[in-house]
Amino acid sequence: MTERLFIFDTTLRDGEQSPGASMTQEEKVRIARQLERLRVDVIEAGFPAASPGDFAAVQAVARAIKNSTVAALARATENDIKLAGEAIRSARSGRVHTFIATSPIHMEKKLRMQPAQVIEHAVKAVKWARGYSDDVEFSPEDAGRSEPDFLCRVLEAVINAGAKTLNIPDTVGYSMPHQFGNLIRQLRERIPNSDKVVFSVHCHNDLGLAVSNSLSAVLAGARQVECTINGLGERAGNASLEEIVMAVRTRQDVFPCDTRIDTTQIVPASKLVSGITGFPVQPNKAIVGANAFAHESGIHQDGVLKSRETYEIMRAEDVGWGANKLVLGKHSGRNAFKNRLTELGIELPSEEAVNSAFQRFKELADKKHEIFDEDLQALVTDEAVANVQEHYKLISMRVHSETGEKPNARIVISEDGVERRSDAEGSGPVDASFKAIENMVASGAELLLYSVNNITKGSDAQGEVTVRLTKGGRIVNGQGADTDIVVASAKAYISALNKLHSKLTRTHPQV
Ligand code: KIV
Ligand code: ZN
Repeated sequence: MTERLFIFDTTLRDGEQSPGASMTQEEKVRIARQLERLRVDVIEAGFPAASPGDFAAVQAVARAIKNSTVAALARATENDIKLAGEAIRSARSGRVHTFIATSPIHMEKKLRMQPAQVIEHAVKAVKWARGYSDDVEFSPEDAGRSEPDFLCRVLEAVINAGAKTLNIPDTVGYSMPHQFGNLIRQLRERIPNSDKVVFSVHCHNDLGLAVSNSLSAVLAGARQVECTINGLGERAGNASLEEIVMAVRTRQDVFPCDTRIDTTQIVPASKLVSGITGFPVQPNKAIVGANAFAHESGIHQDGVLKSRETYEIMRAEDVGWGANKLVLGKHSGRNAFKNRLTELGIELPSEEAVNSAFQRFKELADKKHEIFDEDLQALVTDEAVANVQEHYKLISMRVHSETGEKPNARIVISEDGVERRSDAEGSGPVDASFKAIENMVASGAELLLYSVNNITKGSDAQGEVTVRLTKGGRIVNGQGADTDIVVASAKAYISALNKLHSKLTRTHPQV
C-alpha cells in the first residue's frame, strides 16, 4: 500500500522571510485558508517570539484552521517555546517546532556553545515544548553541514525527550542530492529509536537543488517535506510545494508514497500568494508558470493536438489551470458577492467593510464585465492595503501621454489627511507618475523592481503591479491592482511607501 507523505507548508514563516514578503494578519489567514483547501497536513503559521504581530497572526491562523495542523516555530529557549505554545493553544491540532544549530560553524561562531551544551538545550527545549503539545517537531539547524555522528547523538536524545518529528534542514542549500539522501538513510539506520518518529526535510534552494534534495530524501525514507508555495523563502527560497507534490504524484512508479493534496487548488494558491506578497511567478516556472503548459513550436503543437501525452506529462486542469471561475458580473447583488467571498475563505471584519468592498466590486464590474475569483482576491488585497497603511493615500490622478509629446502626470495624494498635489514629466506615464509622487514624498527610496501581471485573461483584465523599494537596508513590496495599469502602478508605489513609512516609524517612533 502507498505510504503517506506529509506536506508541511512554511509559506507563512520561511516564505515570509523573503525580503519584502511580509504579510498582514488578514493576509496570512487568507493564505492559511487556501492551504487548508489544498489539504496540506501542517501549516507553519509563524515565529511568535519574533514580534507581537507575529504572535497575533499565529493565534489568528490557529483559530481559523480546522483541518490542518498549525505549527509555530521557536528557538530552543523557554520564552520562545512559551510564546509558540500559547499562540497555538486554540488550534484544533497544534504543533511546536523548536530548533537549535548543530553544525560546527554555527555552534562555534553563532551559538558559542560546546556540542554537549547544544544537546542539553535541545533536550530541554523538546521537554518544554511537550508541556504545550504532544506534537513536537525538532530541527537541528544547518544539518546539511553538521557531522553525522553528532547529529545521531542529538537526534537520539530528542526522541527520548518526546519529539515526534525530526526535521533535517539543509539550511544554506549546500547539499548535493545523493549526499542528502544518504544522510537521511544513515540517520534512519543508525539512530536506535528512529522508528518512533517521522523524518522530515527542509531544503533551501541556494544551488537550485531544494526540490531534488527533498525528493532524494523521500526516496531514502523521509515522510514529511517542508516546502512553500512558489518556492518562496529566505534568500533563493525553499523547495516549491507544487513541484514536490506533482513530482511524487506524476512518478508513482518511482515513489512509494503520496500526499493527500488536492492538486486542483495549486494554481489558485500560487496566484494568491504571488498577489499578496508581490513576488511574481516567472513564466517558465514548473507547474504554476504561465507557460508551464504552453506549446510554442509547431512540432509540439501538432503532437499535442494528435495526442496530448506526446508532450504533456500532466494535465493543466489537474493542477488548477482554468479553474478560475467566472463568478459575478455587474448585475450580481451584495448577497452573491458576499457568498462568493465566503466560499473563497475571505471574511471581512465588518458589514461596513463588506459594503465598501461591494462598492469597489461594482466600480470594477462597470469597467470589466466578467469578474473572476482572482479579481475578487485582488480587490480584497487592494482594499486591505488601502485600509491598513493609510499614511499616504491616492486621491486622484490625471496622466497625459501622446505620440511626440513628453508624458506628464498630475497626482493628488493625502499625507496624514493633508491633501497635496504635484505635476511631473517622465519618460513614460508610469515614470511621470512615480516622479510626481516622489516630488511630494521625497522618500529617496531606490526602485528595485517594477512588474506588471495580468490577473485574468483579456485586454480588459486588471493589471496587478508590484513595486519593490529599498531604503536604509529595508526592502518592501507594494501592490496595486486596477484595469488601468498606470493607476495600478501609482497605487503600488504608494503602498510600498506606506510600508516603508510604517517600518521606519516602528523603529524610529519620532519619524
Ligand atoms: O532553514 C532552516 O534551517 C530553518 C529551520 C528553522 C527549520 O528554517
Ligand atoms: Zn529555512
